[in-house]
Amino acid sequence: MATPLEPVDLVGEFDPTAPEYLADPYAHLARLRAQGPCVVDTSRDLWYLVGFDAVEAGLSRIVRGHHRGPDRHVHFPANPFAADGPGHTEPRRIIAPTFSNKAVQQFRDRAQEVVDAALADAVAGGGELRLVDTIGFLLPYTLTCDVLGILDVDNRDELRAWTWQSLELIDAFLTPEQMQEYMASAGLLAQHLHGVIEWKRDHLADDLLSLIIRTADAGEVLRPEQVVPYVHTLYLAGMHTTVNQTALSLLALMHHRDQWDRLCAQPDLLPNAVEELLRFESTAQYMKRTAEEDVDLGGGIVVPTGAEVVCWIASADRDEARWGDTADMLDLTRADAKQHIAFGKGPHVCVGSWLARLELHVVVESIVSRFPDTTMPDQEFVWESNFIRGPEELVLHLA
Ligand code: HEM
Repeated sequence: MATPLEPVDLVGEFDPTAPEYLADPYAHLARLRAQGPCVVDTSRDLWYLVGFDAVEAGLSRIVRGHHRGPDRHVHFPANPFAADGPGHTEPRRIIAPTFSNKAVQQFRDRAQEVVDAALADAVAGGGELRLVDTIGFLLPYTLTCDVLGILDVDNRDELRAWTWQSLELIDAFLTPEQMQEYMASAGLLAQHLHGVIEWKRDHLADDLLSLIIRTADAGEVLRPEQVVPYVHTLYLAGMHTTVNQTALSLLALMHHRDQWDRLCAQPDLLPNAVEELLRFESTAQYMKRTAEEDVDLGGGIVVPTGAEVVCWIASADRDEARWGDTADMLDLTRADAKQHIAFGKGPHVCVGSWLARLELHVVVESIVSRFPDTTMPDQEFVWESNFIRGPEELVLHLA
């Protein structure tokens, strides 16, 4: 029989919107973990899962459910990725083969081409690399366009802002003003995507968007009005996650020079290094769920019907109970690094994880192998989000 949890009032103790939290969430999350694997924040009426086992169980067993308050996704109704059960799993299968480990290898040359061009530009400009603006954004943006079979646009900067703010609508700690602003961006993105899909209908080819449209027209697993929300999720999920994960990975290596030097000396460590970088600094810091029935997560945690739950991936992947005394260290040789849950767990686990790994692999390998003496000049980092973590910019000096 599970013991009911003591609710904890965290007012003043835990503020994921505070600058000191954004600069280093891990110390704050460790303090939550010290209170147990699950903490109930009565002031915000949120359940926080912070222990590794609890987060895994929460992501796997609690449904997405429906948020309290206004519908943040009003511009993208009937999104299969926001659903649970067959209405989610069947449409999800449409794209799974495109994102298998084997299938994504076809994008390696294109990824390399984008990275090579950005590095060449940086070298031509004296060696300064603005990682986020150049490789960080361009790589996932180009691959997203290629995979879907859509054209580049003239208003890239606008599109970048709309996609970022639409993704941020998942943030569990938004102010009403932010919510309003981000919903306006989501409306503009919806208009844009309607146009893209109209264009594609006249240019059907052998690409993912054509496959999605044809499947919707057949009407069995997807309805035509679900194409926009479906593509919207692919667009958001594949873009800013990779942008930020790339920056976090390079930043972690710059802060741990011994590990950087080790990777330069032993490039065969790279596949494991990518897993450890994902564990150590996962850009997707948490995912939300809402319980539609009582859910027993084990370990004495029973989430009651109606509870809104924040599954704190960033805490799980630093949990000493799972990773031992070295949980807070970056160790590129960690034997079980790939057991991290940076890509989530359960029915909604990341579809694009192999593509993301490929992109990270190409970026890190290209810089490490060609510029082993790269340094990071002094700079102030701006951290925008507690949900998708990453510095607004990261400047490196290639050498
Ligand atoms: C480093 C980069 C990435 C990270 C850290 C990441 C992380 C995640 C996480 C944690 C989830 C689980 C969501 C949940 O449980 O609620 C997820 C879902 C998803 N990801 Fe990724 N992701 C990355 C890159 C990508 C890429 C490149 C794509 C390709 C398009 C992608 C597509 C998706 C999709 C479609 C979902 C929704 C799956 C579903 O609900 O069934 N992601 N991602």
